[in-house]
Amino acid sequence: MARDVLVLNGPNLNLLGTREPGVYGAATLADVELACREKAGSLGLAMEFRQSNHEGDLVDWIHEAGRRKAGVVINPGAYTHTSIALHDAIKGTGVPLIEVHLSNVHARESFRHHSFVSPVASGVIVGLGPRGYLLALDAIAAILAD
Ligand code: DQA
Repeated sequence: MARDVLVLNGPNLNLLGTREPGVYGAATLADVELACREKAGSLGLAMEFRQSNHEGDLVDWIHEAGRRKAGVVINPGAYTHTSIALHDAIKGTGVPLIEVHLSNVHARESFRHHSFVSPVASGVIVGLGPRGYLLALDAIAAILAD
C-alpha cells in the first residue's frame, strides 16, 4: 500500500516565481509541486501538496497527518521563526517530518537563524532550492519504510 505524505507550504510560498527571485529562484510553486509529484510517484508515495497563508491551517494539516499516520514535508515559511503552535502540533502528534527551506536561512538575517520547527523535525534541509523538497521526499520515504 502506498504510504501517505503531505507536502505543506506556509505563507507567501504561493508567490514563488515572482517573490524575490534572487533569493528564491524562478520556479513557481506549481513547478515545485510537479517535481514533487514525479518524485513521489517514483518512490511509491501517495502525495498531497498544499499551501496556506494561515498558521491554523498548517496546524490542522499536521493533526490530519498524525491521524492518517502520514509523513510530512513542510516549508513553514516565516512561521518557522515564530510558531510555537507548529512546534507543539509536531511534538503532540509525533509525525515524522522533514523541514525544508529553499534559501539558506543561516546565511540571511539573524531573525531567520532560529527555527521552532527544527527541534521537533526528523531532519532539516536548507539552501538547496526546490531540490530540497525532492531530497526531503527521499528522506521521508526511508523513514516511513523503517
Ligand atoms: C523560507 C525561509 C523563511 O525565512 C521565509 O520566511 C520564507 C521562505 C525558505 O524557503 O527559504 O517564507 O522558508
